[in-house]
Amino acid sequence: MQEKKIKDFNSYKKEYERSVKFPEKFWEEKANNFLWKKKWDKVLSWDFTKPDVKWFIGGQLNITENCLDRHLEKRGSQIAIKWISNNTDEPNRDLSYSQLHKEVCKFSNVLKKNGAKKGDRICLYMPMVPELAIAVLACARIGAIHSVVFAGFSAKSLSDRINDANCNILITADGAFRGDKITPLKHISDEAMQNTPSIDKCIVLKSTNSDINIKSGRDVWWKDEMEKVDKNCTAETMDSEDPLFILYTSGSTGKPKGIVHSIAGYMVYTEFSFRNVFQYNEGDVYWCTADIGWITGHSYIVYGPLLSGATTIMFEGVPTYPDAGRFWKIVEENKVNIFYTAPTAIRSLEAKGMEFVTPYDLSSLKVLGTVGEPINEDAWHWYDKEIGNENCPIVDTWWQTETGGIMISNLAGVTPSKPSFATLPLPGIQACLIDENGKELEGNSVEGKLCIEFPWPSMARTIYGDHNRFRETYFSAFKNKYFTGDGALRDENGMYKITGRVDDVLIVSGHNLGTAEIESAMDEYENVCETAIVSFPHAIKGNGVYAFVICHEEAGNPDVLRKEINDLVTKIVGPIAKADKIQFVSGLPKTRSGKIMRRILRKIASGDSENLGDTSTLLDPSVVEEIKLGSL
Ligand code: WTA
Repeated sequence: MQEKKIKDFNSYKKEYERSVKFPEKFWEEKANNFLWKKKWDKVLSWDFTKPDVKWFIGGQLNITENCLDRHLEKRGSQIAIKWISNNTDEPNRDLSYSQLHKEVCKFSNVLKKNGAKKGDRICLYMPMVPELAIAVLACARIGAIHSVVFAGFSAKSLSDRINDANCNILITADGAFRGDKITPLKHISDEAMQNTPSIDKCIVLKSTNSDINIKSGRDVWWKDEMEKVDKNCTAETMDSEDPLFILYTSGSTGKPKGIVHSIAGYMVYTEFSFRNVFQYNEGDVYWCTADIGWITGHSYIVYGPLLSGATTIMFEGVPTYPDAGRFWKIVEENKVNIFYTAPTAIRSLEAKGMEFVTPYDLSSLKVLGTVGEPINEDAWHWYDKEIGNENCPIVDTWWQTETGGIMISNLAGVTPSKPSFATLPLPGIQACLIDENGKELEGNSVEGKLCIEFPWPSMARTIYGDHNRFRETYFSAFKNKYFTGDGALRDENGMYKITGRVDDVLIVSGHNLGTAEIESAMDEYENVCETAIVSFPHAIKGNGVYAFVICHEEAGNPDVLRKEINDLVTKIVGPIAKADKIQFVSGLPKTRSGKIMRRILRKIASGDSENLGDTSTLLDPSVVEEIKLGSL
């Protein structure tokens, strides 16, 4: 039995108030709608100073019984996953709830047969094919912790993540189609596995029919293994607070953070937010264009929709292949009702022109969504007019890997929307703004750092293996508050607009990149002595990466050098971290204590070098003049 959705602005207000006054009662009601092996003894205990947050304490469950088993009777033959392939000549695949259940059970047995046990960490490095969702759910079914690594990451990034979590199994594929290219996943995995002593087994899915090496004793084929196992698998009994998954995200310092989410709270919140934000109705066809390698794919391709018994589309390809009409063709062919994508995709498709939109019938659309970065007003209006026919509410959903689910967003057609505003927090989310001096800003028409002052069920519990870093990063800036790293303003009506990161994380095409991560990759280049990375406004990507680089020796051909530096970044981090602009400089603006003044570099990179503010604290102000002259 599912709870009723919030249906009008007044009931939103009432629900919000209730969620603040009686949070435990509020969330207990939501949790009651799920299948539990044993109900909880206590709803919540929390202490943000440690931090230590627990929800539904003492409860026992398995999230896959809630995603799959409990739907079998009512909607066993309904499509759970509708898969659309990258290649237009390859047939799509539909998996009903009962087929998905069967595949998950079988693959759970494959995992067990290959040595997986409850609590083990299993790494997934896969294309956007149904088997990725199957593998995710199979891990959850046997109580193993999945760690999905986006298939665009390099061998080094993959091995770092495998080693950080000590994974014993890697699940990958021969390759991944991406537009007209193939990413050789198994080759990259082979390179990664040269440095991952913890990996015992590698399960390989045939997806692109590429030539690969199989190391006997370690590598096994997905298909062969599936033929050897039973189709029944009892779901492991898990505690509410057992970890469900680890997902890496970039931080201000070099090493990515393994964000850990636990089972019960994540389950309750992703289902609640999915149904209410998108106003999902039974039978709707829902499509989120994200990759399961990111949090949006975890929460709103796999868990949220399946927990709600929805039909979720999984698309293997890219928006511009074979041409820029691909998204709209898919919407037409599949009569998509709810469409959720990133502002970068919207801007890049807008730039391709209306000839890629007009041929398609988009009348099935009822709700549009965006996520991952601020959406500018122009893009918002284009999306509204050209895609939504001014007839579909747009939900601008602000949230993070760490928050597990959507935190601030309008509810489609239920609460008001405002272009470029994420608007109001969801029930249960107590957002606040903090000023320069750490004081909470009361009232409306204020701007500050965005924090959350009360726990919500799907919040991250720790950074894998580094609880200190978890506390330092999120709970030490402001006492008793979770600090998001974002700045925001609250308008005269209490609506939130996210203004962007206030730390050293860059949001490029909706992906998080740490400045330190790119800097240290560039510093690996022989001739590079020091690097400073900042972002600059980019018409399509939201932000671009601008690198200021000091070389040891005079560079020969600067363009060759730029390419070689970017090739190295691709190799160490992945292609998403490449710099759009590389400027060679002889020095960087540093304070007397040696800290790079990024504020100045950001201004120069944005083409706004006239108003650099106070530069008197710089060790050598003359370097600024040189950088200004050479700016790109
Ligand atoms: C940014 C993605 C403005 C923000 C779900 C946040 C947004 C970071 C929005 C998290 C939005 C996400 N408007 N900014 N609607 N959604 N962001 O962890 O800076 O990949 O902190 O999670 O993306 O990125 P992450």
